Amino acid sequence: MKSHPITVSRRGFLAQSASAGALGCLSGTSVAASPLEQSGDDAVVAAQYRGFVKKSVKDLPTPALLIDLDIFEHNLQALAGYMKGRAVTFRPHGKAHKSPAIGKLQLASGAKGLCAAKLGEADVLIRGGIKDVLITAEVVGKLKIERLMGLLAMTPDVKAVVDNDQNAIDLSEAALASKRKLKVAIDVNVGQNRTGLDKPEDVVALAQVIAKQKGLELIGLQGYGGNNQHTVGFENRRTKEVQSNERVVAARQALEKAGFAVQMVSVGGTGSYNIDADFPGVTEIQPGSYIFMDSHYNKIGGKDTPDFKEFGNSLSVLSTVISRAVSGRAIVDAGGKALSTDESVPEPMDLTGATFGVAGDEYGALRLQNPSRELKVGDQVQIMPGHCDTTVNLHNVFFGVRKGMVEHVWPIEGRGRTD
Ligand SMILES: Cc1ncc(COP(=O)(O)O)c(C=O)c1O
Repeated sequence: MKSHPITVSRRGFLAQSASAGALGCLSGTSVAASPLEQSGDDAVVAAQYRGFVKKSVKDLPTPALLIDLDIFEHNLQALAGYMKGRAVTFRPHGKAHKSPAIGKLQLASGAKGLCAAKLGEADVLIRGGIKDVLITAEVVGKLKIERLMGLLAMTPDVKAVVDNDQNAIDLSEAALASKRKLKVAIDVNVGQNRTGLDKPEDVVALAQVIAKQKGLELIGLQGYGGNNQHTVGFENRRTKEVQSNERVVAARQALEKAGFAVQMVSVGGTGSYNIDADFPGVTEIQPGSYIFMDSHYNKIGGKDTPDFKEFGNSLSVLSTVISRAVSGRAIVDAGGKALSTDESVPEPMDLTGATFGVAGDEYGALRLQNPSRELKVGDQVQIMPGHCDTTVNLHNVFFGVRKGMVEHVWPIEGRGRTD
C-alpha cells in the first residue's frame, strides 16, 4: 500500500493493512479513541492559519502540508502497541515533526521522552512542555553550550551526546558554572561513520574523562545506525542492524566491566524498530518517520510482507493544478520549496498513471501517462513526500484532516531550526 488519499477512511486503511497480515504485531491492540482531542495547541497557531479548523480541505491555501489523522493515529498506536510490554522502550525522534503538539501525543502513546536533532528543535520541544529530551547530535562551541545550559535550567532531563574529551570538559565547566549537572551519553559509531567512537576501549577512556567532570552524569550510550534504516529487504536490514547493535552492546559491556553503570542504550529508527525492540542490551529505540512515512520508506520491504505496511502514509502535500497549457502535463503549485527531493521522488497519491517531478521552486510537473482522472486547472492533487523530515521543514503548519475536513492546525515551531 503506497498511497492513502485523504478520502481513505481509517477503517479502509486498517482493513487493507490487516488483510495483508501487516498488523500481526498489533494483535490484541486496537486503535484508541482519538487522543488528538486532548490537544489544545491549535490556540497557538498564527492567525493566518487558524481560521481553517472545521473547514473543508478544498478550501485550504495550497501547497498545504496535510496529516491524515486516521492514519497518523494508527501509526502512533501501531508503534506504541508493538512496544507495549517489552523491556525496551521508545523515544521518538522529534526531527520528523518538529512540533510539541505531536511530541505530546507521542508521550501520551507511551513514549519515554523525545529525541531532538539539534538545540533549536530541543528548544521548541522543551518550551512546548516536553521535559525529557535527548539531543542526538553533539553540542559544540561556547555559544551552543550556553544555549544548552539555558535548556538545562528549564529541565534537568535534557540530555546530550559526546564523543570527544574536550567537549565533555567544556560541557562540564558550563554545567558547574550554572550549578547544575548535565546528563550525557557517549555516542558510538555503529557503522554510519558520522559521529561516535569506534572502539569499546575509546568509549571506556571517554567515560573515565567524564567521571572526573563534576558537572556531568554519564547515563549511557547512543548507537544510531542511520545507514541501515532504508536497507531494502528485511533480512538484509536485520543483518546490518544486528551488527550495529552488537557494536554498541560491546561498548556497553566494556563500560560495565570497567565499573560504569549503564542506564540507557539508545538505538535505531523506523526501519529497524522491530529488530531493535528485543535486542539484549538495548534500552530504547529512536524512530522518527513512523508517524508520517514517505515514498522512500515505502520501498524498504516489511518483515513478513513484500511492502513495509505497519505504518501508513499519513503525510501529504496538497497542491492545486495551475496550468494545463502544455500537453501531457499538469502543472501544480508545489515544487522544490514545498516537497523535498533529497532522498526519493514524491508521488501523486490520489492519481495513478502519472509521475511527479519538481519543475522549479514553486512548480511541480505531473507527467500524465494514463491518468486515472481528468485534471482541470483548479483541481487539487495530493503528493506523497519523498522524505518526510525535510518536507516538514519547509512548512509552517500541519493541517490535521479527517474525512475531508480540517480538525487541527498545528504549528511546526521547529521548522528551519537547524541551529
Ligand atoms: C540520531 C537519529 N535517530 C533516529 C532517527 C530517526 O530515523 P527514522 O526517521 O528513520 O525513524 C534519525 C533520523 O535521521 C536520527 O538521525
